[in-house]
Amino acid sequence: MNILVIGSGAREHALVWKIRQSPKVREIYCSPGNPGIGELAECLPMRATALEGLLDFAKQQQIDLTVVGPEQPLADGIVDLFEANGMKIFGPTKRAAELEWSKAFAKEFMQRHGIPTARYKKFTASQSAEANDYISRSSMPVVLKADGLAAGKGVLVCSSREQAVASFEEMKRQFGAAGDTIVVEEFLEGEEASVFAICDGKDFVMLAPAQDHKRVFDGDRGKNTGGMGAYAPAPIVTPDILRDVEEKIIKPTLTGMASEGRPYKGCLYVGLMITTGGPKVIEYNCRFGDPETQVVLPLLNSDIVELFDATCEGRIGELRSNIAHSQSAVCVVLASGGYPDEYPTGIEIDGLDELAGVNNVLVFHAGTKLQGSTLVTAGGRVLGVTAIKSDLAGAIEDAYNAVGKISFAGVHYRRDIGKKAFVH
Ligand code: AMP
Ligand code: GLY
Repeated sequence: MNILVIGSGAREHALVWKIRQSPKVREIYCSPGNPGIGELAECLPMRATALEGLLDFAKQQQIDLTVVGPEQPLADGIVDLFEANGMKIFGPTKRAAELEWSKAFAKEFMQRHGIPTARYKKFTASQSAEANDYISRSSMPVVLKADGLAAGKGVLVCSSREQAVASFEEMKRQFGAAGDTIVVEEFLEGEEASVFAICDGKDFVMLAPAQDHKRVFDGDRGKNTGGMGAYAPAPIVTPDILRDVEEKIIKPTLTGMASEGRPYKGCLYVGLMITTGGPKVIEYNCRFGDPETQVVLPLLNSDIVELFDATCEGRIGELRSNIAHSQSAVCVVLASGGYPDEYPTGIEIDGLDELAGVNNVLVFHAGTKLQGSTLVTAGGRVLGVTAIKSDLAGAIEDAYNAVGKISFAGVHYRRDIGKKAFVH
C-alpha cells in the first residue's frame, strides 16, 4: 500500500515509524512532515490544511490509505472530501469530529447519552449576566472552556469567582469565533489519564492507557503546555476502571454517535479524570494525542496499517483478539527554553547520532528543521525521547540516559516523567 500521513509533529513521526514496520507498505508520504519523518518517508511541501491539494496528490500517487494526525483538517472536513472522492482515509468526518471542535456539542451529547462528565452550563458571549449569576452559585474552582478549537489554550481553571467572571470576558475577546460560546463547568478532582479507542463506527479496540504531563515544571507546576512527557501503560487505569471506561464511556459514545447519524470512525481520544466516583470525561479529541502517541504506538504488538485498514472497512471486530500491548514506555519531551511562552528557534541540536544504535530508544521529532545539513530547533516542543523496556522504572532510566546525550542551548525538560505511576 501507498500511505499518506498528514501532519508535522512528533505524533506524526510516531505514526510514520509504526506504519513503516508494516509489511503491507510500499511508499509512505507525509505532508508536510519534518526532518525526522524525512528519514522514513517522503515529505511534501503542503500544509495539513490544504485539503484540495492533498486530495489531488493522493489521487495522482495512488494513495491507498491516508492517515490524519491533527484536528484542524478533520474539523475542516478532510475525511468527507476524501471519501466523496472514493479515497480511503483514517479519521472521523467533520460531523463526527464535532466531539472535539465544539465543547458545547460534546457536553450536550454526553448529557443526552448519560456519559459521566463534569456538570456544566453553556453561555453565549452576550450572556455575561447569566454567566455571572451561574458562577456566583458555583463552588470554586470552576473551569471555563471556549467552545471551538483553540490550539489547547481554550481552557481556564479559575480559583475565585472574580477570576472566573473576568476570564469569561477575556475569553470572548481572545478566541474570536471559538469563544462565541463558553462552557462553564464543575472542577473535577482526581488524576488524569488518556485513552485511545480505535473505532470503526460501531466497534472499537483500546490501545494502552497513558498519562500525559501537561504542566511545564516538575511536580505539575507552572503553565499548561501541549504535553511535556507521557508514559504507558498507566496503572491508574486499573482493569476495573478500564472496563468502566469501555462500558460507560466508549460504548455509549459510539452508539450515541451512530444513533445521531454521525458514526465515529478513527481514533477517539478520551481525556479522563479518574475521580472517586469513577472515570469522567474531561474532553474528547478526534485524533491521536501528543505526546501519548509516542508511548502508546511503540507498545502495540500488531500491524497498525491492518488496524487502520480494518477501521476504514468497518471490520475492527475481526482484529480484536490480535490487539495487544506489552512492556512499558516513557517519553520525555525536550522543549525550547521559554516554552510555552516565547522561545528562540534556529538553535543547533547535538547528540542525536550517539543514540542511533540504542535499540530501545526512539527520538521523535516535533519542532525541528534542517538548515543546510544542520538540525536546528523550530518549535516549542523540539524532540520526544521514548524508551521502551519490560518495566517502567527501567524505561525511565533509559529515557533520561538518552536525554542526557542530546543538547541544545536553553533546552528544558521535566525530570519527573512517569514518577506518578509509582504512587499506584
Ligand atoms: P482540555 O483542553 O479540555 O484537556 O483541558 C486542559 C486541562 O484543563 C485538562 O488537562 C485538565 O488538567 C484541566 N481541566 C479541564 N477540565 C477540567 C475539569 N472539569 N476539572 C478539572 N480540570 C479540568
Ligand atoms: N496530549 C494532549 C493532546 O494531544 O491534546
